[in-house]
Amino acid sequence: MPKTVSILHILKKKLRQANISSPETESRAILCHVSKMRYEKLLVENDIPQAHFDAALQAAKRRINGEPLAYILGKKEFFSLEFLVNPDVLIPRPETETLIEAALRKKNVISNILELGTGSGCIIITLLKNIPNAQGVGVDISQKALQVADINASLHKVHNRLTLLLSNWYSNLHSKQFDIIISNPPYIKKSETLDRTLTFEPAQALLSGTTGLESYKAIASCAKQFLKCTGSVFVEIGKGQDVEIKNIFEKEGFQIVNEFQDLASINRCLEFTSKKTF
Ligand SMILES: C[S@@+](CC[C@H](N)C(=O)[O-])C[C@H]1O[C@@H](n2cnc3c(N)ncnc32)[C@H](O)[C@@H]1O
Repeated sequence: MPKTVSILHILKKKLRQANISSPETESRAILCHVSKMRYEKLLVENDIPQAHFDAALQAAKRRINGEPLAYILGKKEFFSLEFLVNPDVLIPRPETETLIEAALRKKNVISNILELGTGSGCIIITLLKNIPNAQGVGVDISQKALQVADINASLHKVHNRLTLLLSNWYSNLHSKQFDIIISNPPYIKKSETLDRTLTFEPAQALLSGTTGLESYKAIASCAKQFLKCTGSVFVEIGKGQDVEIKNIFEKEGFQIVNEFQDLASINRCLEFTSKKTF
């Protein structure tokens, strides 16, 4: 049987030669995944079965081909919670945690949450985990994405407080008033050339029309119908999109009340409320 240490060495070398940025961490993650063992346990095993070695080499090959590690492992951590992912959903991004932190500032006044474009469910599920009495509705245009969100809701035991709905933005929603509407919509222009790793993710999770702003227009246009008059809309935005998105919301009767930056100091989340009429 192959030696654990030598396998780790071989995997690390292959990943490093392919310019993978964290070869050590990723080779450990791959070997733990295929052998279904924690790293501490793996280290005390001198040998591992040939089948696990073959599976690890296969996984490394996929990684070297550009496939994101999260799809190979089938999971991704977000806001200290683990979410199941597959190629039907966008992989949760660290910058989206900015949206969570922004919304949680309001946790004491939130009972009802609407998430538009829920994907893996990482946003709405994280909010429900952190706001124990709140109820949520998560909509997506992809039935396959909703199936993943449903599994994640069960894994995190919030399925009894979450309704998942197949809907083109608001199209299948009934007139309910929410305390917040939250969304990380697709925001890349269709004409943009995507990095190779992004081509593994669903196009409808990433691309939004010719300007990259079409999702925000759709979200802003009906938001008032579904928001309490004291409610807020939180949206994640792409780098440099803030001015245009503020204009879109202002035209629909909203005012910007807060802007939040991610760890790279990029404006990543905008909070809007209805314009006050005196
Ligand atoms: C950027 S992903 C966000 C996924 C997840 N909320 C997250 O932050 O990781 C955008 C999501 O919006 C969904 N979507 C795209 N167009 C939509 C539409 N017209 N109506 C509802 N959902 C849509 C996509 O299927 C995708 O799951």
